[in-house]
Amino acid sequence: MAETYDVVIIGGGPGGYNCAIRAGQLGLKVACIESRGTLGGTCLNVGCIPSKALLHASEMFATAQNDFAAMGIKTGKLELDLDQMMAQKTDAVNGLTKGIEFLFKKNKVDYVKGRGKILGKGKVEVTGEDGKTQTLDTKNIVIATGSEPANLPGIEIDEERVVTNTGALSMTSVPKRLILIGAGVIGLEMGSVWSRLGSEVTVVEYLDRIMPGADNEIAKEAQKVFKKQGLNFRLGMKVTGVEKLKSKLKLSMEPAAGGETEVLDADAVIVAIGRKPYTEGLGLESVGVKTDKRGVVQVTDGHFMAADGVWAVGDCIHGPMLAHKAEDDGVAVAELIAGKAGHVDYNLVPSVVYTKPEIAWVGKTEEQLKEEGVEYVKGKFPFMANSRARTNHETDGFVKVLADKKTDRILGAHMIGVGVGEMIGELCVAMEFGAASEDVARTSHAHPTLSEAIRQAAMAVEGWTMQM
Ligand code: FAD
Ligand code: NAI
Repeated sequence: MAETYDVVIIGGGPGGYNCAIRAGQLGLKVACIESRGTLGGTCLNVGCIPSKALLHASEMFATAQNDFAAMGIKTGKLELDLDQMMAQKTDAVNGLTKGIEFLFKKNKVDYVKGRGKILGKGKVEVTGEDGKTQTLDTKNIVIATGSEPANLPGIEIDEERVVTNTGALSMTSVPKRLILIGAGVIGLEMGSVWSRLGSEVTVVEYLDRIMPGADNEIAKEAQKVFKKQGLNFRLGMKVTGVEKLKSKLKLSMEPAAGGETEVLDADAVIVAIGRKPYTEGLGLESVGVKTDKRGVVQVTDGHFMAADGVWAVGDCIHGPMLAHKAEDDGVAVAELIAGKAGHVDYNLVPSVVYTKPEIAWVGKTEEQLKEEGVEYVKGKFPFMANSRARTNHETDGFVKVLADKKTDRILGAHMIGVGVGEMIGELCVAMEFGAASEDVARTSHAHPTLSEAIRQAAMAVEGWTMQM
């Protein structure tokens, strides 16, 4: 008879693979089931990694086109080789997914290829690509099945002309007119990529603002900068359908508040209106796991327990749908199963939008603090006054630090500017250690660096600003 596992994980994305590797390191007998054919989940295959590969390459293209001359660099005629741009993206993805297989072997994780289904307490059935099934016995099951794109009624996704993130990352030519539905993270990142490569981009958003999760002041600044870059925003508009003609697509929309229908022509449409947990055919009912009406797996707060001997992590549970959050959930669950103290503070999970300039934040927004009735002091510093940003010709944006009025403890940090995706880590560490704004203001920061803007924003909270 096959040996019983300590942990069987369903899903090999950031939640699942990090849980598996940590469980292996803690000496547990562990298997990870993945149906996609490669490890890494949405993030490595059709999310974070391919999108960042295209964002980086398209940013270099745009920089060469728009900014080299002012730096005194002359080039010949620039040309786009989209096939090569896509090939280098695929290389990055393949290298990283193979890297996880290596880590599985190193940490004695059994990689089981196929679709997992829970049959009952401690039993998971796996159906391989050839249709053959096997049943794994286990003390613990971890659901790490992630999420899938949400869609709108009246829109048929074909992943060629009307696409989700999957198709948006693999287009074979640059669409002349591109419409993105949703001004969230995917809308802005993918809109930036294709706009830099030559598409006329229109972003249609239901709400009257972009990036609903971000601090309002940052979202407003971002919209201004992206508009300058050529992105066209249609806010407060509800898409009602996309008609597919041979020569073009016709997208119908009307004001969210009601009104006349308007039709926009497009060559491609990207649907990016959010994602929903993926738990189809998983056998949740066999172990009494509950979901809410959006399909979110219900777990005990902070303990990730979905039922007796069943845990859940990542995009399929509550909290931000981000790879590093899924990763932290996965590690915490492996530690809890091993009898250790796994813990994740969702308030300190940073968000980064990898546009140019980048947008990054951690902790509370001004709107959240006002709603909670928390008194705070705001310190702000513009990159226009930062010497490194000036030498780099990259002066858009600012850093904003929000600190408790009484205790000076940092409650939130919000940034827009080139490189802020890396800079936010400093404030995550500071906040994790319960730092006061004065702690950051009194910490030496190398000169001339962009991170001096963080120190200056913290100094502005203390009233010692050195702003020009
Ligand atoms: P997933 O990564 O979705 O992995 C779940 C895996 O489970 C999948 O591989 C699926 O095939 C498998 N699976 C599902 N059901 C079964 C089953 N029954 N049996 C076997 N296997 C199964 N986040 C960031 O932090 N930074 C970014 O820059 C970023 N960029 C993104 C860009 C895009 C375009 C998208 C779409 C997402 C991006 N995200 C980003 C979000 C990030 O990808 C997710 O938050 C993360 O992948 C969630 O990890 P997960 O392990 O919960 O789920
Ligand atoms: P999102 O939640 O970021 O944005 C969706 C947007 O669509 C919102 O602005 C919403 O108001 C709008 N919307 C919803 N319904 C609409 C409708 N009917 N018509 C028009 N607009 C509508 O979701 P998105 O961009 O699809 O990304 C999915 C997830 O992937 C996010 O949760 C995000 O966290 C993650 N992701 C993270 C990235 C990163 O960390 N850099 C990059 C890309 C995705």
